[in-house]
Amino acid sequence: MKLVFATNNKDKVKEIKALLGDNIELLSLKDIGCTEDIEETENTLEGNAKLKVDYVTRKYGVNCFADDTGLEVDALDGSPGVYSARYAGENVTYEDNVQKMLGEMRGRTNRKAQFRTVIALNLNKEQYLFEGICAGEILESTKGSSGFGYDPIFKPKGFNESFAEMSLAQKGKISHRGLAMKKLIDFLYSPDDSKSPGE
Ligand code: IMP
Repeated sequence: MKLVFATNNKDKVKEIKALLGDNIELLSLKDIGCTEDIEETENTLEGNAKLKVDYVTRKYGVNCFADDTGLEVDALDGSPGVYSARYAGENVTYEDNVQKMLGEMRGRTNRKAQFRTVIALNLNKEQYLFEGICAGEILESTKGSSGFGYDPIFKPKGFNESFAEMSLAQKGKISHRGLAMKKLIDFLYSPDDSKSPGE
């Protein structure tokens, strides 16, 4: 089975290639000649994941999945959520977003937050959604230097380390994206003839 991952993020492609096994050939957008930027214009994670996957399936006629992730903070009414990449403004760095979050959370006692990933899959003319959630809290200052994004200020529930103090493998086992990817992979490998591409 050939499956396109609608992303330009090489790390994400590498991560899921390692999990998918040999029966599924994973292609990136570049592999299918899709070089245009698919703008994420929806205001939900689900909306953006569907938008990306529908664009690729419509234009290239391929089976495809896409993901979208957001950090949802209790005390900020679920913000920044779908706007996590641009929390501190357009064209900002991860560090800018982290500093903005630390500022917004200064003095707050409710520090509960969750990362949520939604994956949309278009397979043989059907659409499926998978969700992965990792609950935790926003730290009062940065800890650790691995990972990316909000990793240095997010401590998953039940752990003493921030995401940025964990190895990639350790984070992958408990992370929002890891959990959503696992649901996708379990689905792709489940013995259900109705979704088999028949190739
Ligand atoms: P994307 O939808 O995966 O591109 O994620 C949107 C934004 O959420 C990123 O730009 C990061 O700021 C943040 N983000 C997503 N996943 C993670 C993660 O695993 N750790 C920390 N930040 C993340």
